[in-house]
Amino acid sequence: MNSDSAALGKQLAARAALDYLREDTILGVGTGSTVNALIDLLDSEGWVSRLRGAVSSSEASSERLRGLGVPVLDLNEVADLSLYIDGADEATRSRILIKGGGAALTREKIIAAAAARFVCIVDDSKVVTTLGRFPLPVEVIPMARRYVMRQLATHGGRPVWRQGCVTDNGNHIVDVHDLSISDPLGTESRFNQIAGVVTVGLFAARPADLMIIGSGQGIEVV
Ligand code: 5RP
Repeated sequence: MNSDSAALGKQLAARAALDYLREDTILGVGTGSTVNALIDLLDSEGWVSRLRGAVSSSEASSERLRGLGVPVLDLNEVADLSLYIDGADEATRSRILIKGGGAALTREKIIAAAAARFVCIVDDSKVVTTLGRFPLPVEVIPMARRYVMRQLATHGGRPVWRQGCVTDNGNHIVDVHDLSISDPLGTESRFNQIAGVVTVGLFAARPADLMIIGSGQGIEVV
């Protein structure tokens, strides 16, 4: 897949996600280029004034939303979050995801957990049978980084520190390469139990409820 066709897939998936928006609700908004396409569409399709506000998974998305005039709310102020829309780095057709390429995985996981419905928007290059081709991001407490990396290595992967990256929560990211994740729920649970791990970028316990896959051929809803 070339980058033009991936960009078209992202654009089509983002546009199709507008069908799930409802007037006067608070929207959960994720992070990344696919979500940026969605945010641009909120503006061009007249949704900015029709939403009550947004809860965002990153400072980058919050800034973009505020720039358009969308009120960005603290999740603690929101009793009822009906919809969260976000992209993914890798996805299976059972809607289990790898996320965190943009280092926003912790807030993404929190918002996905709090939302009644999680709609994932991806281009078709992201869809795989077995997760792990994309290195699995793990957010770690900085002082625990080397310990966590040693522990992760015992599970067969090759952990690499994403140097220079500090998350919005002040933590570090370790990307685990060379995994073939045949048991996503088990891997998520095992990695979660390592002391010092804040969040594992596997969304298996809380997968997306619906996935919109965009490609040169159009969209497919899974
Ligand atoms: C950020 C994420 C993003 O959803 C993921 O990286 C996808 O990004 P893009 O839409 O740019 O391909 O998990 O932490």
